Amino acid sequence: MSGRIESERETVIIFDTTLRDGEQSPGASMTVEEKLRVAEALEELGVDVIEAGFPIASEGDFHAVREIAKRVRKSVVCGLARATEADIDRAGEALQPAERKRIHTFIATSPLHMKYKLQMEPEEVLERVRESVRRARRWTDDVEWSGEDASRSERDFLCRCIETAIAAGATTINIPDTVGYAYPEEFADLIRYIRDHVPNIDRAVISVHCHNDLGLAVANSLRALEAGARQVECTINGIGERAGNAALEEIVMAIRTRGDILPFRTNIDTTKIMAASRLVSAVTGFTVQPNKAIVGANAFAHESGIHQDGVLKHAQTYEIMRPEDVGLARSSLVLGKHSGRHAFRRKLEELGYHLGDNALNEAFRRFKELADRKKQVYDEDIIALVDQEIQDLEQRVRLESLQVACGTERTPHAAVAVRVNGEVRQAEAEGDGPVDAAFRAIREAVPHEAELQLFQIHAITGGTDAQAAVTVRLARDGQVFHGHASDTDTIVAAAKAYLAALDRLMRRRERSAHDAVAVGSP
Ligand code: KIV
Ligand code: ZN
Repeated sequence: MSGRIESERETVIIFDTTLRDGEQSPGASMTVEEKLRVAEALEELGVDVIEAGFPIASEGDFHAVREIAKRVRKSVVCGLARATEADIDRAGEALQPAERKRIHTFIATSPLHMKYKLQMEPEEVLERVRESVRRARRWTDDVEWSGEDASRSERDFLCRCIETAIAAGATTINIPDTVGYAYPEEFADLIRYIRDHVPNIDRAVISVHCHNDLGLAVANSLRALEAGARQVECTINGIGERAGNAALEEIVMAIRTRGDILPFRTNIDTTKIMAASRLVSAVTGFTVQPNKAIVGANAFAHESGIHQDGVLKHAQTYEIMRPEDVGLARSSLVLGKHSGRHAFRRKLEELGYHLGDNALNEAFRRFKELADRKKQVYDEDIIALVDQEIQDLEQRVRLESLQVACGTERTPHAAVAVRVNGEVRQAEAEGDGPVDAAFRAIREAVPHEAELQLFQIHAITGGTDAQAAVTVRLARDGQVFHGHASDTDTIVAAAKAYLAALDRLMRRRERSAHDAVAVGSP
């Protein structure tokens, strides 16, 4: 980092919406327990504001926001609300136990959204802005207002809305690029325009919320910071509606690495980034692509001889960030079946996992089992093992046993035992191949209507003893559910992944049955 010393730099507020916008990714829904674990990881990471959910959306969302509000102490806990009394009061109630709380209320301001979605005249929208912010201020002094589809709104109307929101008591003004349409320079110009044309803008923090439909979410957010925004809304691994939101890890590491251009600092402890990324990936079932910036498996891997040679001579030849800065340790510690608990714990810490005693014991037991089946246990194996453990903690539908017979001279046959909420169910089936037979047997044991949309296998490391990582996507009534699992036996991994997806589907079904109020997502 060059230029001004760290303490003199202006702080950019990191507003994380993994639990709200991130959870809106098709198939990324989380249980309350999972949301609590993610919220704790976000607080550990140093996130300033955690958007915990959209309380009026469902009983489940309300409950999750309330539990997070009870648990989180340092970060501000935020709840989303449309511009209606019912939404705002529901958010206010959910946030009541929070030490520090924020209500985030929004209404669309673009001609397209006002005319077709809201069917409201601009003057009515303006009135709603005033009323909604005033209502939110009854619950808390910390109120954020967003003009949905701001980047496609008429600038002067948007500025009138912002001025009205601030006059009514909003302390943060968020400018979303809801459909990911903005271009960096154009978006920066919009921020400058707002600063120049809203008379009371100095009484609020300008925030940006960019979607990634054109792959520009991070670029748009960074240009907005240069133009005067001081809060960025983002998600871990960039998950979110459609193509996702700006990725927290990319924003934070860009600020840290390019201090010469971005003279800012954040409160994020970057060494916790990998742990947060892995947790979100494990609980959502959304794997991180290997070449993903900052948190992808290859982000710090140097494959070519020239690069390896350069890095060994002087790391900065090919490295602009140090792996340890994001929570990855440089290490040559290779584990095998003789490795003890101490070495295993050290390896986990190097990989960014900090497990409690019980979880560590269980992970160590699984590691020993794996080491018996596999000569060398690589970092990727351990990551898969711990992720599987995190997932298994929650699963109520799981594999007890699986026997498969197949080959050139016979019809593939599978016999499966599945535990569903404690009860063991057994079934057998034949199929076109061993995976097909296993999936049919699971369908016999746990009857369901979902359709298999995706089945993907990759080897975690090289060698014929490598673990297989399998992703399964099931779809039902327009909703999708991901399952991810790994095992040295490919068919076992496939069956576990199928059951992981089924578990999410069943939990969603139970949650929907509970929910009294169901509304569309923003
Ligand atoms: O993308 C969007 O416009 C939103 C708002 C609710 C802030 O998510
Ligand atoms: Zn959004």
